[in-house]
Amino acid sequence: MKKIAIYPGSFDPVTNGHIDIIKRGLRLFDKVIVAILLNSSKNHLFSLDERLDMLKISLKDMPNVQIDSFEGLLVDYAVQQNAHAILRGMRVLSDFDYEFQMALMNRKLNNKIQTVFLMAGLKWIFTSSSIIKEAARFDGDIDNMVPDIVGEKLKKKFNLKLSGN
Ligand code: PNS
Repeated sequence: MKKIAIYPGSFDPVTNGHIDIIKRGLRLFDKVIVAILLNSSKNHLFSLDERLDMLKISLKDMPNVQIDSFEGLLVDYAVQQNAHAILRGMRVLSDFDYEFQMALMNRKLNNKIQTVFLMAGLKWIFTSSSIIKEAARFDGDIDNMVPDIVGEKLKKKFNLKLSGN
């Protein structure tokens, strides 16, 4: 039986920290489905289509990765995809509370789906989509923190000059 994990999130936008988790997840699972939650209550900088496009471009050379979006409960989506695991990255202390709550709630909703946490790579332990967006908004250097396509899209979003133009 194929071992399939769902890697869910907002991915607003995808960062190199996310990509590191996906790559390492692929060492544990036969397939990783990167899934963006639709209809989240959060205000996103990028539309769903923009976020999907950035993921597709950033992960195009990675086999065994599927990109998708989902509505409703994550555990229901996991069952629909024949996945038995939810993959999440965990950074320093701040993530723990939220991740623990979410994992316990998901287990209450469906105890056949396991949540697997990978510690964020040391390089990415203090980065997040939010903090990268904040730096990018004021033209901070975020080049090695996100895939090239994301760096370009952030610059366009904030009307900043693209390098090489
Ligand atoms: O990247 P994020 O925003 O931290 O991801 C949060 C996400 C999408 C994983 C979480 O909000 C989610 O799974 N939502 C789907 C609804 C659900 O299943 N909720 C019950 C578990 S708390």
